[in-house]
Amino acid sequence: MAKNIFRKELATLNAYVPGKPIEKVMEEYGLKEVVKLASNENPLGPSKLAIEAIIEEASNVNIYPDPSVDIVKEKLFKKHGIPKEQMILGNGGEEIIKMIAMTFLNEGDEAIMADPTFSLYDITVSHMGGVSVKIPLNDFQQDLDVMLNAISEKTKLMYICNPNNPIGNILTKEVLDDFVSKLPEEVVLVLDEAYFEYASKNDEYPDGLDVLKRRPNTIVLRTFAKVAGLAGLRIGYAFSSEEIINEMAKTKGVFNVNRLAQVAAAASMDDTEHIKNTVELSYQSLGYMMNYFDSKGLKYIQPNANFIFADTGMDSKQTFIELQKKGMIMRPGFIWGYDTWVRISSGNMADTEKFIAALDEIIR
Ligand SMILES: Cc1ncc(COP(=O)(O)O)c(C=O)c1O
Repeated sequence: MAKNIFRKELATLNAYVPGKPIEKVMEEYGLKEVVKLASNENPLGPSKLAIEAIIEEASNVNIYPDPSVDIVKEKLFKKHGIPKEQMILGNGGEEIIKMIAMTFLNEGDEAIMADPTFSLYDITVSHMGGVSVKIPLNDFQQDLDVMLNAISEKTKLMYICNPNNPIGNILTKEVLDDFVSKLPEEVVLVLDEAYFEYASKNDEYPDGLDVLKRRPNTIVLRTFAKVAGLAGLRIGYAFSSEEIINEMAKTKGVFNVNRLAQVAAAASMDDTEHIKNTVELSYQSLGYMMNYFDSKGLKYIQPNANFIFADTGMDSKQTFIELQKKGMIMRPGFIWGYDTWVRISSGNMADTEKFIAALDEIIR
């Protein structure tokens, strides 16, 4: 028998399933126009300041980028008052999620997470030979009591996605604080706040940095992909203790954040107006969708991020196909075990209206 040359974990690893690209749907169905509300992207695009910074930086891409990404750390320090030694930048939040698994997990170590939640936690844990302990949601919410009860001697990581993707609901400050007070100190808490700026609209939403300040074994993850509209440049960041950051840094790509991403992220932090407009537009778009669902008596989860999870009452696999024929892309819930649910990202108002009109034709 031929020798297996691959890392053994790869034999059973489920690759990440990304949203379907616009170009692919155009080609498949012979469409000229496609509306993609599937990957929680920013319909306003990046900030103008970011675009200017990218153009200015373009002629310097023959030079390697700063491996420590100081221009962004400097801005993050000014904004949050957390020392630069407690920050790390990644090639998207996704690289940081990889770094976390690589930093902590030996074979057989356990990591607790909700099911469903952002699938990269499970993928990166499994890749390192770790064991994902997946705790089903309880009435759509991360089941914190069961997650605490699942802690064993082998538990290294506890993932909390707040707001949880794909559901879009939050754990409130009160609930999170109570959970944190019961979490053993040696379990590293990963608080994924990829949708922080959207969720902050909700007064009950906690700031993970407050948890980090009193609990060093915490990693707070955020990204420029969503609210800053830089998904295509790949830049995310995390805060933790200096000790954890130092170890994580050993696992990162040396020049992991490219020059254009660095200047664009730094510039976009200056454009508070763009961030405010992005969040407002997102809630306007989701408000339109909620009105529609209400008018049809369809259930949805109150959104706290830039997407909504809703029950159309129809088979989501079929709905996904029917919508694509009309040039509309969303994420069907069956991939997370919710057969009649769909996850729809917020869009600009024109796309939102087109999407809901197309959905309505199918529902009728
Ligand atoms: C919950 C969550 N965490 C992390 C990420 C990764 O973000 P990035 O695009 O920065 O890799 C995403 C992206 O969709 C996400 O939804």
